[in-house]
Amino acid sequence: LFQNHESVWLFGYGSLIFKVDFPFQERRPASIQGWARRFWQGSHDHRGTPENPGRVVTLIEAPGVRCAGMAYRVSPAVFGQLDVREKNGYLRFSTPMTFEDGSQEDGLVYIATADNAAFLGPAPETEIAAHIQGSHGPSGANREYLLNLAQALRELGEQDEHIFEIERNLQAL
Ligand code: BEZ
Repeated sequence: LFQNHESVWLFGYGSLIFKVDFPFQERRPASIQGWARRFWQGSHDHRGTPENPGRVVTLIEAPGVRCAGMAYRVSPAVFGQLDVREKNGYLRFSTPMTFEDGSQEDGLVYIATADNAAFLGPAPETEIAAHIQGSHGPSGANREYLLNLAQALRELGEQDEHIFEIERNLQAL
């Protein structure tokens, strides 16, 4: 996959937008088509525990929907590091990304599919907010993950109604 490549694009739509603990050569806002960001993945190892998993985002196939995030041009070696960081049921695939100037490149994306053991699936935004409010893990409070993600999306000038509705519900708790 990485043979003869000095750099590869990585597309981040969750914690990779706001928690950048890996080296990168360049970073650019980007989006991908046909995917929706949803708080449907359980987190046993970062924002929750095996007994009380938190909720983090994954991507769900959604024709016509655009998911905004951040693209990083990284050395292939970074994937060794990230595969460890993102071990909780994620796999990665390649998809076209569109930059703000309309140009496109392929990028690698981590996704947790519905068949992984930690998948939680849909719930009303009110329930997701209450769940997030009560979850904590080795990487910190689940609430902080949600608030950091919502803030990062605002800074990108992006609307994401699922995320912002959970944020509103959480702030009302
Ligand atoms: C992301 O931000 O793209 C991401 C982070 C952790 C797991 C999967 C994806």
